[in-house]
Amino acid sequence: MRFRPRPGDPANAGPRGAPVSTPVRDAPPATPFTASPAAPFTASPAEAGTGPWDGAGAVVGRDVPAATLSAHDRSTRAGGAAWWEPPGMSQTPVLDLRGIDKSFGPVRVLQQVDFTAYAGEVTALVGDNGAGKTTLVKCVGGIHPIDGGEYLFDGRPVRPTSPREAAALGVEVVHQDLALADNLDIVQNMFLGRERRRGLVLDETAMEELARRTLAELSVRTIGSVRRKVSELSGGQRQTVAIARAVLWDSRVVVLDEPSAALGVAQTQQVLEIVRRLADQGLAVILISHNMNDVFAVSDRIAALYLGRTVAQVRAADVTHAQVVELITAGRCESLGIRG
Ligand SMILES: Nc1ncnc2c1ncn2[C@@H]1O[C@H](COP(=O)(O)OP(=O)(O)OP(=O)(O)O)[C@@H](O)[C@H]1O
Ligand SMILES: [Mg+2]
Repeated sequence: MRFRPRPGDPANAGPRGAPVSTPVRDAPPATPFTASPAAPFTASPAEAGTGPWDGAGAVVGRDVPAATLSAHDRSTRAGGAAWWEPPGMSQTPVLDLRGIDKSFGPVRVLQQVDFTAYAGEVTALVGDNGAGKTTLVKCVGGIHPIDGGEYLFDGRPVRPTSPREAAALGVEVVHQDLALADNLDIVQNMFLGRERRRGLVLDETAMEELARRTLAELSVRTIGSVRRKVSELSGGQRQTVAIARAVLWDSRVVVLDEPSAALGVAQTQQVLEIVRRLADQGLAVILISHNMNDVFAVSDRIAALYLGRTVAQVRAADVTHAQVVELITAGRCESLGIRG
């Protein structure tokens, strides 16, 4: 099962057909990088568009000598996270979190977390239980106010303080518990709190049509009538409704917190296909998952959290399952030169 376009694949294009590798300068880093003449910038094969990038010499970590790093790599993160992204592959990220701190009372749950997500890509957010993934996406979704750090949206600093404000930016979170109302039907759930009205009455016809069209665009065929109650749906169908609800609006970033955690094989595959399709439609998709097969099947980038800190953000094509598992479980990876 593989939904992620391979490097060099013509299908590997960004939103509206723009190539993912279109070189657009990143927003300025939180800590300014001063270029050293000792480390000239050299284009990788992937940057030059000649084939897959082999990743050599481009791991950024606290213990990697700066002289071995490219200009792009060294210009990255203030929080000390390993950052492994081929030079020239960068666009301005839709979402760019820098040095995010979040505490609940005396408990520091997130410390100096860095994270980026790009349009047209799936970025997996991985980490062990309690690593802080859900907390981070709740900060992204405006549910938890962040204590410190920068939240950049399209390169502009923002501070959404409610889900409504996050939604106004185009950020939608499909939560771990889905938060669907069992006693309501699919249309009612999709428009809950944002109902369409015509005059004083609800515009049921318009909502029904939009719900049907959104599900069809996601190639959802198994649900049947959009007037079915959510309590009658399977886990996979419920997940699909929650995702459709998130993309009904003018979304730019969609976060899916463990969408396949409770699903069987076929339903998981269906949900992963939808995840990939969302990115192919130009959304920046953030996928939280504990399942490495799912992560590698659909993701372009992988960000690993360990005990509330970012240990690395890498391109999925540049790492192996075992390396990501090591990042998750140990907060380091010897073979990537990331020593935690
Ligand atoms: N509202 C809260 N108040 C106090 N502590 C919290 C709160 N929410 C989360 N935490 C703590 O923050 C830490 C991170 O939790 P979080 O839910 O973000 O982890 P996670 O990476 O999503 O884990 P999982 O994979 O189990 O879903 C945990 O130790 C948790 O107990
Ligand atoms: Mg969680």
